[in-house]
Amino acid sequence: MMTVLETLNWATDYLKEHRVDNPRLNAALLLAHSMHLSKEELYICLHDQMGKEEKETLEDLIRRRGSGEPLQYIWGHQEFWSIDLKVDSRVLIPRPETEHLVEESLSILANISSKKIPSVLELGTGSGAIAISLAKEVKKIFLVATDLSGDALIVARENATQAGVSDKIGFVKGDLLQPFHQGESFDLILSNPPYIPDSEISGLAGEIKNHEPLIALRGGEDGLEVYRKLISQIPSYLKREGWLLLEIGSAQAASVSEMIGTEGGFQRPERVKDLSGIERVVKAQRN
Ligand SMILES: C[S@@+](CC[C@H](N)C(=O)[O-])C[C@H]1O[C@@H](n2cnc3c(N)ncnc32)[C@H](O)[C@@H]1O
Repeated sequence: MMTVLETLNWATDYLKEHRVDNPRLNAALLLAHSMHLSKEELYICLHDQMGKEEKETLEDLIRRRGSGEPLQYIWGHQEFWSIDLKVDSRVLIPRPETEHLVEESLSILANISSKKIPSVLELGTGSGAIAISLAKEVKKIFLVATDLSGDALIVARENATQAGVSDKIGFVKGDLLQPFHQGESFDLILSNPPYIPDSEISGLAGEIKNHEPLIALRGGEDGLEVYRKLISQIPSYLKREGWLLLEIGSAQAASVSEMIGTEGGFQRPERVKDLSGIERVVKAQRN
């Protein structure tokens, strides 16, 4: 039999040997998870004995983490916009920087919703993080969220139900705007599309390239293929004075703004920076 502390030390050493960053923190989080405790509660019972079953569960989790599987997939959750979302290998783990897209959308929706119920389309919803955040924040809203991956949509639907907003979001499977008919138009269309150039995928951390869905990462040869296709399809589906909001990868703001300018029918696109001066979002209003 081992104490909780001895098990924590074993797990930390195992993760260190397998070159996992922050091995002690990872070990503590997984140990707490396997014992159904918070991290704070774990530190109170360091001298307790570990049960055999708890130890076996932990060993499995630690081996998965040692092989590079992201912590969020192992314990099955990620917080986004203060909402607890279920995540697994069917969906991208929502990143904190994507909250900028939510923030920008909310300021646009505040204007629209004073006059009418806004209609919003999110393309490539993954776990549903963005659409669910908007549904939580805006009392009256008509939301449609799509994905090319049927597996991702299963997770997104579960998350919407868990968050209590399933009646506010329609989920649709399909390739960008292909599921919609001409004449169906929205006040706001937003997306965090895949934007990693194909040549950069092999250089990504193993946690990402070996575990997160490639369909959520691959942006084609120059990383801009999905933007190109999406922007060319948008004008017929956006109402007059409607907004297009796109999260962008590093150094993509200029190219994406230029694509919107070349497509025509929009006012000059704006590039929104985060607090450290990194451009995160491009937004443009239709004429
Ligand atoms: C970068 S992930 C974003 C996921 C989620 N919106 C977020 O921000 O965490 C891109 C998503 O777009 C989906 N996707 C990729 N190509 C697509 C396409 N042609 N049409 C619709 N969805 C697509 C992927 O399956 C993935 O869920």
